[in-house]
Formats: sequence, structure tokens, C-alpha cells
Amino acid sequence: MATETIDQYELLIDGELVPAASNDTLKTLNPATEDPIGDVAAGDAEDIDRAVESASDAFPAWRDTPPQERGRVLTAIADAIRKNADRLARIETQDNGKPLSQATTDVEDCARYFEYYAGIADKIHGDSIPLTTEYVDYTLREPLGVTGQIIPWNFPISLVGRTIAPALAAGNVAVAKPAEQTPLTALEVGKLALDAGLPPGVLNVVPGFGAEAGAALASHPAVNGVSFTGSVVTGQQVAKMAVDNVTPVHLELGGKSPNVVFPDADFETAIDNTITAIFGTAAGQVCSAGSRLLVHEEIHSEFVDALTTRATELSVGPGMEDHDVGPLVSADQYDKVRKYLDIGRDEAGEPVAGGEAPERSGYFIEPTIFDHVDNDMRIAQEEIFGPVLSVIEFSDEQEALELANDVDYGLVAGIFTSDVGRAHRFARDVRAGQVYINEWFAGGVETPFGGYKQSGFGREKGLEAIRSYTQLKNVCANIDV
Ligand code: NAI
Ligand code: MG
Repeated sequence: MATETIDQYELLIDGELVPAASNDTLKTLNPATEDPIGDVAAGDAEDIDRAVESASDAFPAWRDTPPQERGRVLTAIADAIRKNADRLARIETQDNGKPLSQATTDVEDCARYFEYYAGIADKIHGDSIPLTTEYVDYTLREPLGVTGQIIPWNFPISLVGRTIAPALAAGNVAVAKPAEQTPLTALEVGKLALDAGLPPGVLNVVPGFGAEAGAALASHPAVNGVSFTGSVVTGQQVAKMAVDNVTPVHLELGGKSPNVVFPDADFETAIDNTITAIFGTAAGQVCSAGSRLLVHEEIHSEFVDALTTRATELSVGPGMEDHDVGPLVSADQYDKVRKYLDIGRDEAGEPVAGGEAPERSGYFIEPTIFDHVDNDMRIAQEEIFGPVLSVIEFSDEQEALELANDVDYGLVAGIFTSDVGRAHRFARDVRAGQVYINEWFAGGVETPFGGYKQSGFGREKGLEAIRSYTQLKNVCANIDV
């Protein structure tokens, strides 16, 4: 597919589109064609400085804007995103590779985040605490100040909404650093937000490389809160940089989430959701993918046969043609997943589905299933972040739980069973931040999301995100003087 045009994109700082101080640019590609689609200003520490300064200047007025007015601005941003949904989805698909229908869903998610947190802006309040009669004591929930959002490439526009809307609703200002592979929609949303009435400097968008713009943001002494989504290794580095300034960090890292299927489950429901969980969105490049299937020995063969049939039927191709599975985001990610296909073959033998990278341009990998995997193999323990499923057999509930928990990650977990007690025992005992019962990827902007163990800490989405973006002050007054 021919590339349409190579667009020029600048940084968004203080309400202006500006080149990087260094004049450097980066090229973003369409992963379906490997062709460049945009020349994007590549920010570094100097640009992050400018953006943080602009945000700091904008903070007092935005913090003191009546909350209902902040809510109205966020509603206007949601409306603007919806009005531009088709264009934004096409940009997202070309920049990230994901199928157009998935990009359309992500754009709507972004609008939903702004809408949801718009409604919360005037409902963020503290408590009064009864002491003795000579005191009045109350709490105030206050914004952090300048917040930094380091955003990955797998859900670029959706994560703009998820990380920025609650920050702004709570009266914070923001400097967002989108991933170098997919910077376009963050800039587009930034521009729409300005047009929708967001004051200059309240949201700055500074694309650039992680080691430059990202590190400068994480280590900036005037940044008062950092939200990071990405790999464990980079998350650890970001947290170390932030802690030098005693800046609170919220880390949303990877996963190797167990999807547990019992013989009493509704078979078709379990099959449909297992396919969705690993192949159904962003070609498996999802932190909450169901990448580890634990299936009971009684139904193991029948289940894997049905899965194999379904996986083989999925169409793989360019996102703009809206296939079931698009390309991976980048050459790096493609190489990483191909390396895991080799590791998987060494550890578990030939995959029962897929296992190949089609011979053509674009970072495509077939939906792949490795059967007869042991939980201590690398393909059972490490995040592959692609369309690769590892299947592990178990014989009873206790073993299923042990296998589910025997991993460094703890982002989400799923169980398919018709036994209500078993489902809730699993939900109680599994070490994960979100549990799906007879469903995968349930929940939307309203449901708190974040990890146990190495999957991170802090919660995004829902009302919980407001806690991540505020700090609590207690005021204690003696009224008897
Ligand atoms: P990464 O964690 O390095 O990148 C994520 C974001 O962090 C990007 O915006 C990047 O520019 C920024 N970054 C990179 N180095 C930085 C630094 N030193 N300081 C501050 N910011 C920095 O992830 P990468 O390399 O793109 O992908 C590698 C693996 O990470 C994937 O294969 C996957 O396993 C995992 N990953 C997990 C994601 C999730 O949703 N939890 C999202 C993206 C990647
Ligand atoms: Mg790109």
C-alpha cells in the first residue's frame, strides 16, 4: 500500500507548535509498509525544560479554574475527539499498524476518558473528621502540579486519554512524552484540546526518544508526578530517576497473564475470549493479553484443536484494510517476537498454529500457538508482546492457581468456569490487579487498572486514578480561641 504523504509534526509547547531546540526530527513509519509517514520534531532535555516551565506557569490558573469549568473544557475535548474520530483513527492505524476498527475503538476510548473525568472534576473532595468540640478538621484533595506522562506505542491515543484526562480533571497540568514509534495522535489530541479551549501550557506534548525526552521528563526536578506505561526495565529506570527528586511515580508495566479454562466452562465463550485475549487487539502487543492459557487436561486436546482452527482462520494484513491482525509496531518488536518463535520451537517444539513471518514488507507475524508448554519455560514466563500463545495443561483447581501465580507479573488474570464458588476463590487467591470471570478485557474507563508484583503499582482508570493524581492535605483548626 502506498504511503499517502509525509506529514511534518512539531512539538506542542505553551500552546504553540515549535521545532525541537536542536532542530532534530525523527521519522515515524507505517509498520504495514515500513514507509515513513511523518517527520516529527524530536525533543530533548531542552524542550522538556521549556514544556515544564510552560506547564508550571499555567498551573496556578488551571488549578484555580472552577472545577465545573475544567469539566466543561474536558467535555469539549471529548466532543472534538469524536468529531475527528475518522481522521484520528486513520492516523493511528498508519502510525501504529493496528486494524482500523481497533484504532476507531481506541479513539472512542480516548473521548470516553475525557468525558468520564469531565464529570468527576467537580466531585473531587475531602472529608471532615470529628475531633473534640474545640476543633474543626478536614481534608483537601489537591492536585500534584506538573505531571509527566510517558506513553508507550501499543495504545497511543487511548493512553493519552487514560493518563492525561484524570490529571487535568484534578487540576494538574501535563507534559506528555509519546513513544517515538507512534507520536502522531498525541500531538493531534493536544491541538484539538487547545482549539477546544484548554489554556496554553496546561497540556504540552513533546515527542522524542526515551533516553532523551523521556529521561529528561522523569528526572526533572519541577515535575511533581510521573505516570509511566511500558517495559519493566524502563519503568525501573524511570522510578529511580524520579525518586532522586522524591517525585511520586505510577508504573504500569507488563504482564504474562494466566487465562484458566475448566471443563465446566461454556466452551464457545472460552474459545472466543481466549482468541480475543491474545490475538484480538494490537496483534497481542497488550500488557493485559491472555498470553498464558492454562487448560484442564480433560478438555485440553479438544480446546487446543478448536483454538488452532480459529487462529488459523484469522486474517493478517495491513491495518488500513482492517484485517483481524495487523503488523507489529516496529522492526525491534518484530525481531523480538521472531526471537521468541525460535525460543518456543527449542523449548516446546513446532507450534500448532502459525509460527511464521510472511515473506513481504511490513512487520507481520502469524497468530501462533505453542502447545505442551511447561510453566518454567521462557515462553511461559517472559512477556513476548506479540500474537503468541503458550498453552499449559493442569489437572485440578489447586494446580491451576499455583501455575497462575507462578510468574513474576501480576497484571490481570481470567477464569472460565460455571462454578461460581471456584470463580470467586480464584479471584480471591490470584495475585493480579484485575480478574476477569467468563470474559476477557471486560471493563472500560470506569474500572481501576494496574498491577501486582512486577506489573507495577498505582492505579489508573476509574475513580482510583484521581487518587494517583492528587495529594491529601489535612487541616486542623482550633475554633475555641
Ligand atoms: P519502553 O518501556 O522502553 O518504552 C515505553 C516508553 O518509555 C516510550 O515512550 C519510550 O520512549 C520511553 N522510554 C524509553 N526509555 C526511557 C528512559 N530511559 N527514560 C524515560 N522514558 C523512556 O518499551 P519498548 O522498548 O518500546 O518495548 C519493549 C518491551 O516493553 C515490549 O516488547 C513489551 O514487552 C514492553 N512494553 C509494555 C507496554 C505496556 O503496555 N505495559 C507498552 C510498551 C512496551
Ligand atoms: Mg509509527
